[in-house]
Amino acid sequence: MSSLRHAMPVVLVLVHAVLALALQGPAAGSGEVPAVIVFGDSTADTGNNNFIQTVARGNYAPYGRDYAGGVATGRFSNGRLPADFVSEALGLPPSVPAYLDPAHTIHHLASGVSFASAGSGLDNITAQIPSAMTLSEQIDHFRQYTERLRRAKGEAAARRIIAGALYIFSIGASDFLQNYLVFPVRGYSFTPAEYEAYLVGAAEAAVRAVHGLGARAVTFAGLPPLGCLPLERAVNLRIPGDCNSAYNMAAVSFNRRLEGMIGRLGRELPGARVAYVDQYGLLSAMIARPWEYGFENSAQGCCGSGTGYVETGALWSLKSALACDDAGKYVFFDAVHPSERAYRMIAGAILNATSHSRLHRFH
Ligand SMILES: *[C@@H]1O[C@H](CO)[C@@H](O)[C@H](O)[C@H]1NC(C)=O
Ligand SMILES: *[C@@H]1O[C@H](CO)[C@@H](O)[C@H](O)[C@H]1NC(C)=O
Repeated sequence: MSSLRHAMPVVLVLVHAVLALALQGPAAGSGEVPAVIVFGDSTADTGNNNFIQTVARGNYAPYGRDYAGGVATGRFSNGRLPADFVSEALGLPPSVPAYLDPAHTIHHLASGVSFASAGSGLDNITAQIPSAMTLSEQIDHFRQYTERLRRAKGEAAARRIIAGALYIFSIGASDFLQNYLVFPVRGYSFTPAEYEAYLVGAAEAAVRAVHGLGARAVTFAGLPPLGCLPLERAVNLRIPGDCNSAYNMAAVSFNRRLEGMIGRLGRELPGARVAYVDQYGLLSAMIARPWEYGFENSAQGCCGSGTGYVETGALWSLKSALACDDAGKYVFFDAVHPSERAYRMIAGAILNATSHSRLHRFH
């Protein structure tokens, strides 16, 4: 709780910054964002995997222990995810509902929805390993959503929501960690450069598909520093406890290509405002200088001792007994996923990316 109160001014500052930027540009009149629409993996799944047969679930303690009511919603963190904070900062609900949760009607989902599925990737094979929903399936659900929205709200209102929404993509880390670098399902058929090109091609196809269905403002997050995730430090055989620099280099190389593709699509797709989010830069700064961001530990997850596979929820069990007292002091909550406080800062980077892309477009 104290960490929540502590972090509150950050969001308020962001809201002010976003409003100030919005008011400067001619975008101000059309100003309001009616919905936040999310695709991705465990960094964006707000509970969809609770409703499918999969081993990738975060609906048990200590996940959710700092969420409202202490509920484990399926979010792989101690609290909310970046998309939730973005939604709140835009004046929308403080959490983005999961599409598959039957508790939500199309009227609830009209102001925001997550199609994300923990364990998913840009590569269809990645989702098959934990039986998560592929990105193609997520986009099929989005198509179905646009139809439901038209039936419920009428053509004009539905079009306003779909064209005015902010779209968030947060996906790709599992392609490398679950599938290519660690357990090389794809390692034998692709060189690293080929796999990178294949994944960026899949990312491009996904952005084109949602643009084709009416999306305009899209943010796409780059990979985090994969080699500095607590899990990868713990299994680093060359220098135990240190970041795996080969994994970081793979992420940097992928991100460069992704950013290039995003810039090109932004110029090419009619009416699109597509922005790359530099998650790598922000997280590596937090990891290198945690104290500047109010963290005390950036090498281990709040849960577990930092010694291996037991510390992430996806395929391994996570022991409540080993959780730290204050997750707000940790960059990571488990061995792979950021803490709520780190996620709140990532939300800031997403909001910044959207305001910058707006400024670039109109000035
Ligand atoms: C994933 O599968 C879908 C459906 O079969 C297909 O349309 C899509 O192109 C595939 N994606 C990739 C990246 O191969
Ligand atoms: C967002 O932009 C504001 C204003 O330029 C800056 O102070 C802040 O550090 C940025 N936040 C992130 C996470 O990039």
